[in-house]
Amino acid sequence: MQKRENPYTPGAGRKPPNLAGRDGDLENFQALIERLAAGGYERSVIYSGLRGVGKTVLLMELDVLASEAGWATTDVQEVGSQPDFRVTFARMAARLLREMSRRHRIRDRVDRALGVVKAFSLAVPSGIQLKIDVDTASGVADSGDPEQDLTDLIREIGEVAATTGAGALFLIDEMHNLDASSLAAICIAFQAVSRSSLPVAMAAAGLPDLQVRLMSAKPYADRLFQYRELGRLTDAAARIALITPAATRGVDFEEDAALQVVREAAGYPYFIQEYGRELWNEAEASPITTADVNAVREIVTDSLARNFFGTRFQLATDAEQRYLAALASLGGPPYRSAEAALAYGAKDQRGVSIHRDALIQKGIIWSPRRGQLDFTVPLFAEYLRENHPLASFDEADGDGA
Ligand SMILES: Nc1ncnc2c1ncn2[C@@H]1O[C@H](COP(=O)(O)OP(=O)(O)OP(=O)(O)O)[C@@H](O)[C@H]1O
Ligand SMILES: [Mg+2]
Repeated sequence: MQKRENPYTPGAGRKPPNLAGRDGDLENFQALIERLAAGGYERSVIYSGLRGVGKTVLLMELDVLASEAGWATTDVQEVGSQPDFRVTFARMAARLLREMSRRHRIRDRVDRALGVVKAFSLAVPSGIQLKIDVDTASGVADSGDPEQDLTDLIREIGEVAATTGAGALFLIDEMHNLDASSLAAICIAFQAVSRSSLPVAMAAAGLPDLQVRLMSAKPYADRLFQYRELGRLTDAAARIALITPAATRGVDFEEDAALQVVREAAGYPYFIQEYGRELWNEAEASPITTADVNAVREIVTDSLARNFFGTRFQLATDAEQRYLAALASLGGPPYRSAEAALAYGAKDQRGVSIHRDALIQKGIIWSPRRGQLDFTVPLFAEYLRENHPLASFDEADGDGA
């Protein structure tokens, strides 16, 4: 098969030719925007899941659905890289308004709203100045209080969106990056705006602890949003994800070969894409057979080790890598942090809490409950035990900590 025609898309945020197993999420979202556009009420939606389950590509698909329904969208925006989240929101707001202005004849209304965005961005202490060529509004979104100002900003966007007959959608990725006060401000703003039934919504995604983070920022956050967990694909969906991209180019899978890959990929979309890509590159002809699967297994494992696991592992410092190995050495999840400290060789948890917190901060591990930890990367423990066993660290540095 021609390598350049390879239809598979292993990577981060690379849209697969066929978004398998997410029909329920798409239908749910479709209903959400229809309700809102019709003047009804519907809660915004928060998706959570492990690395590589397809959060970003789902948001990209929602972007398409919303755009087709005439909504303005922010495009998928990753948050957390700016010191102040308001900078990202100001940019998103300006973008939504410009899009609405392009599609509808509401220039004057949009200019007024851009004045609010300008006021909002000027009130951010560390903020950048957006190049917005309108008069700054006064008395709206300019108090300097993030909660109040964000509420004003979102309401302004909602009011403009209401005049378009469609709506405006914030698409936020890696939301777990935001600190508690930023999350609280977002909760407050959406809570306030939800009462006025304006067609403005948020679809956001993050790691599995996002819901807990939102709830500790604002206890009512559990009722404010709808939460949807993105998990592994079912066997049937995984099979579709594997065979459809090839089928659209006239290449088939022997059923046993497909089942074998589905089993080994354990329902994780990233692994399916990786397998698909290597099979396409290596197989001589259609149909792809179990012999082909056996022939590429090692290449797939290597590729995952380098691209999926290795990149995450390299984010950790030496001591953090040792802590990861200590966690993996405990067997299966949930991993208890007290035991991890012992395995690491620390006298008590205080000795390692700095590593644990840094790894949570880096989004490599998360805490399902107090005192418990788990990896955010699927099958990471297996990778670590295979490639970076705890014993290898003892050989490297001898002492315990
Ligand atoms: N439903 C799906 N069907 C087929 N392939 C998918 C599906 N969802 C995701 N993929 C593929 O899986 C990979 C990971 O997707 P994506 O980057 O969206 O994951 P993610 O959850 O955002 O990961 P991360 O937490 O690392 O950002 C990509 O290669 C993508 O093409
Ligand atoms: Mg992503």
